[in-house]
Amino acid sequence: MKIDIVSVFPEYFDVLGLSLMGKAQAKGLLQITAHNLRDWTHDVHHSVDDTPVGGGAGMVMKPEVWAECLDDLLGLQPATVDETECTLDADDSATIADSADATVSDEVVESSDAIASDESDGMSADITAENATEAHDAPVPGTAASDAPVLIFPNPSAPLFTQRDATELSHANHLLFGCGRYEGYDSRIPDYYRTQGIDVREYSIGDYVLNGGEVAVSVMLEAITRLMPGFMGNPDSIVEESYTGEGALLEHRQYTKPATWRGLAVPDVLLSGDHGKVDRFRRDEALARTNEIRPDLIAKLDCKALDKADRKT
Ligand code: ADE
Repeated sequence: MKIDIVSVFPEYFDVLGLSLMGKAQAKGLLQITAHNLRDWTHDVHHSVDDTPVGGGAGMVMKPEVWAECLDDLLGLQPATVDETECTLDADDSATIADSADATVSDEVVESSDAIASDESDGMSADITAENATEAHDAPVPGTAASDAPVLIFPNPSAPLFTQRDATELSHANHLLFGCGRYEGYDSRIPDYYRTQGIDVREYSIGDYVLNGGEVAVSVMLEAITRLMPGFMGNPDSIVEESYTGEGALLEHRQYTKPATWRGLAVPDVLLSGDHGKVDRFRRDEALARTNEIRPDLIAKLDCKALDKADRKT
């Protein structure tokens, strides 16, 4: 599986060379590359963000830099002219807004207004009514489409990433993660790549807010890659885990030796050698713990996943 990660802090991903993820790379199962988004900037400050349109605190990641980067990594041809790459000053945008030339669309005028607030890049505007219409030429999917890349953005406001998503994505050939920072990324970035036929996902890893997407990507990557055939030394350990399979229960509690430690004993049944009883005990415990800790999972449980004995617990 090819994995590209784009971040303004690619060093976050140095740790992926450790442990099982490192071994999977050494075996050739995974090819992970962390890219620095700033490598796709053209201004002296390597700026990747701008103030939010409509006001508000913080900064939002700009679509132009992301588009150059993602077009490259997805093997898409860039648009011939992209109006969002021009920074207009107030006079330029006023000229366009006032222009009687009907070929300038409202959309272009709107985005010009938005970008007129950019003071950081200092690039001069070179937009005319003629090239403004050309700006709507879209990139076309390139050869990378045969790898069916999946583009994933971590986002605290997105649907929750689950074991089901991890299982599905463990079969992909190419994952491309985009890590947002600050107040997040311009929402047109995922929207745009959807229009280009790319499978784009946005996921939250939990109901809390992190400083950026890097940790969320690490979490998702670990959940996905460990499900790949050949990743785990003992694949059985995956089958029995929490959130796996139709039942989707929390796992039963685990014990090792000694049978009694600091006055606390392992449940007798686990020492009985009766595998049927051990299985039943563990299943009952999984149901009871799930009911207590995560009743939402019990509510979602498919009745077909329950056996007769489950119904008595
Ligand atoms: N970025 C910031 N917080 C996040 C979260 N909870 N999940 C995914 N991405 C995030």
